[in-house]
Amino acid sequence: MTQDWWREAVIYQVYVRSFADSNGDGVGDLPGIRSRLPYLADLGVDAVWITPFYASPMADGGYDVADYRAIDPLFGTLDDAKALVDEAHDRGIRVIVDLVPNHTSDRHEWFQQALKAEKDSPERARYHFRDGRGDRGDLPPNDWESVFGGPAWTKTETADGQWYLHLFAPEQPDLNWDQPEVRGEFLDILRFWLDLGVDGFRIDVAHGMVKADGLPDVGTPGHLKLLGTQALPFFDQDGVHEIYRDWRKVLDSYPGSRIGVAEAWTRSPERTARYLRSDELHQAFNFHYLTAEWNAADLKQVIDDSLAAMTPVAAPTTWVLSNHDVQRHVTRYGSVARARAAALLMLALPGSAYVYQGEELGLPEVLDLPEDVLQDPVWERSGRTDRGRDGCRVPIPWTPDGPSFGFGDGGSWLPQPADWAELSVAKQQADPNSVLELYRSALRVRREQPDLGAGSEVEWLDVPEHVLSFRRGAFTCVVNFGPDTARLPADGRVLLSSGGYATEDADVLVPADTAVWLARP
Ligand code: GLC
Repeated sequence: MTQDWWREAVIYQVYVRSFADSNGDGVGDLPGIRSRLPYLADLGVDAVWITPFYASPMADGGYDVADYRAIDPLFGTLDDAKALVDEAHDRGIRVIVDLVPNHTSDRHEWFQQALKAEKDSPERARYHFRDGRGDRGDLPPNDWESVFGGPAWTKTETADGQWYLHLFAPEQPDLNWDQPEVRGEFLDILRFWLDLGVDGFRIDVAHGMVKADGLPDVGTPGHLKLLGTQALPFFDQDGVHEIYRDWRKVLDSYPGSRIGVAEAWTRSPERTARYLRSDELHQAFNFHYLTAEWNAADLKQVIDDSLAAMTPVAAPTTWVLSNHDVQRHVTRYGSVARARAAALLMLALPGSAYVYQGEELGLPEVLDLPEDVLQDPVWERSGRTDRGRDGCRVPIPWTPDGPSFGFGDGGSWLPQPADWAELSVAKQQADPNSVLELYRSALRVRREQPDLGAGSEVEWLDVPEHVLSFRRGAFTCVVNFGPDTARLPADGRVLLSSGGYATEDADVLVPADTAVWLARP
């Protein structure tokens, strides 16, 4: 692979708790991932991104890190991590780990020290501690709201009764990135994992670390809903880019191409592109694409906007349909047929694509998990009104039978629907029409067809309403979003189709919710 491997890489997201369980405790782990590397190599992905596996009390599934240099015993050991990275490399798969710099766990040594320390001490200064408002200081210091519901502040039980900031759960206190010590510590953590051999970092809440001076009120209740459209004093502040300039120097000081991927929720593709200037990060998730509706006009617009936004910074555009935080797209789009077509659309676009574990099996969101198994902090924080994200985190079915369908020898930390036997890897491997075989074929064609993935432009073709079609060199992708079969001139020979299709004279007939790939000789 070239130095610029990441520009058109297909990156597979492993949600470690739910991928494969090697020791039968019901929770996925690093040896489990290792045992499934042959599957990933066979699927044909270029890299894996593994969600946090660090020592953690698991208040937010590991996104609450107590020690950034240790593996949680639930997931394995540092030796397991090293073996996983080495073995993935032997199979030609790169490894991206998840770094959580916006907040630590409340069990992190630094936070424990802060609670014991005096007001205005250097220990408190590593986080955002403030006096409360009101006569007795029993009102939060400002009006910021937590992403998981409720106020973004919790009052401590210390003698001085100060409050601390947490944009997520109370168990996830936000670090104060104005402190050089915090910055230095993370440069060191980056080096720790780069020394171990990882190829890059997915940066959690990459838009959150820097807060507006003085932590000003927003002034609007429910302001998190403004995230995609308006500036907020705790997200996407200009000062955050200085951090990435420092990080880029560390990444570039290592051999090979080590990358940084931003999880940056911003208000426009242009704001996202700022994270990808040549001295900052390499990629950012394209949440504008993920949140677009299943229709030709919206998707065309977001594809054009995404490509245009990346041009000035010469970064690859990325494409993503699902992850561990959103409803799976089979359910969001309303059918497996649409999800199959969406996969072919995404994998035909120029740039890098992210595949979330289980989407290659066509797994739907599990909407009916019993309340007593729900673990996402969103459930309790929302006063049990929002069921949260567990429905997209249900463990993978590998076999049609056995406890937890081959996920492990024991149960699984979230129950799997009984009909997932039919969706298991083993069932789908035996079926040429399965979603798994569609992904495998698409990834193979993508490797063989240099026009897919590469470059940064699409040439739109003139087609009927509700249809999108674009050309990339000798290759053409057609997607029919409409209710009726679309007939259009066949731009070459059909390579792959997400569903049925027919050819008649020089035309191709593409049914509703179907995508077709064609190539001219
Ligand atoms: C990111 C993660 C999400 C987590 C949150 C807090 O958005 O993807 O799962 O809950 O950050 O760390």
